Amino acid sequence: MIKFKKYYPDEFRKLRNAGRVSSKCLDYIEDKIKPGITTQNIDEMCVKFLHKHNAYSAPLFYRGFPKSICTSVNHVVCHGIPSNKTLNEGDIVNVDVTSLVEGYHGDTSRTFCVGKVSVKAKNLVKITKEALDRSIKILKPGVHLGNIGNEIQTYVEKKGYSVVRDFCGHGVGKEFHEEPNILHYGKNGTGPKLQEGMVFTIEPMINAGKHETKVLNDGWTAVTKDKSLSAQFEHTVGITNNGCEIFTLS
Ligand code: MF3
Ligand code: CO
Ligand code: CO
Repeated sequence: MIKFKKYYPDEFRKLRNAGRVSSKCLDYIEDKIKPGITTQNIDEMCVKFLHKHNAYSAPLFYRGFPKSICTSVNHVVCHGIPSNKTLNEGDIVNVDVTSLVEGYHGDTSRTFCVGKVSVKAKNLVKITKEALDRSIKILKPGVHLGNIGNEIQTYVEKKGYSVVRDFCGHGVGKEFHEEPNILHYGKNGTGPKLQEGMVFTIEPMINAGKHETKVLNDGWTAVTKDKSLSAQFEHTVGITNNGCEIFTLS
C-alpha cells in the first residue's frame, strides 16, 4: 500500500502561497542569469527574495545541504551546490527553489539558458519543459501514478533523450519530502490511482545521453555518468476533484 497525506482546502490555500513565492523567486532571477555571475550570486538573490516574502528556504541544512537553493549546471543532473564558479555563455543552469511559508512547502525548478546556447542545449531544455507540462495535463483522480512516468518517458525517448531513474518527484506539503515517490518513467495503468487532496512534485531530469548518474565526493552533486547535458523542470501540484492545481505556475 502506498501512503500519502490528504490535503484539505484550507491547506491548499497555504500551499498556493508557498508555491507562489517559489515561482515568483524564479521569475525574479530569470533576467539576472547572465554570463559572468556565479551560482553563489544566484543563491544570494534567492535568499534575499525569500526573506523579503517571509519565507524560509527549505534546502538550507536539509540533511546537511550547505546552501539555500540547488544550482545544477550542464551535466549536473540535480543537487548542485552554489559556489563561486562563474556561469559562461552557452551554459544551462537549473535553479531549484523550495520555500517554506506558514508551515507549507512550495518546490519548483526551471532550467535557464546563459546567454546564447547551442541548438542542442536549447532543444533539450524545451523538450524537458514540454514533458513536464504534458504529464501535468493528464492529472485527475483515478489516473494511475504510472501514467505520469509513461507520459514523460514516451515523449522524451521519442526525441532521443533519456529519463533519469536515480532521482524522482515526491509528495510535498507539510514536509519537504513525503510519500509517495513520483517516478518519471513507467507504464500506463500501473501503480496506485490519484485521489483528490494528493500533493506532490513532478520534476523530470532528462539527459541528452544515457540515463545513468553518479554522485560526486561532496555527497550531493549528481552528474550524468557519460558527461552529457541534463535539464530539469519541477512543479508542485495538488489533485482536485476534476484535475489539478499547479501551485508553482509562473
Ligand atoms: N528541491 C529538491 C527537490 O526537488 C531537493 C533539494 S534537497 C537539497 O526535491 F538538500 F539538496 F536541497
Ligand atoms: Co522536489
Ligand atoms: Co526542487
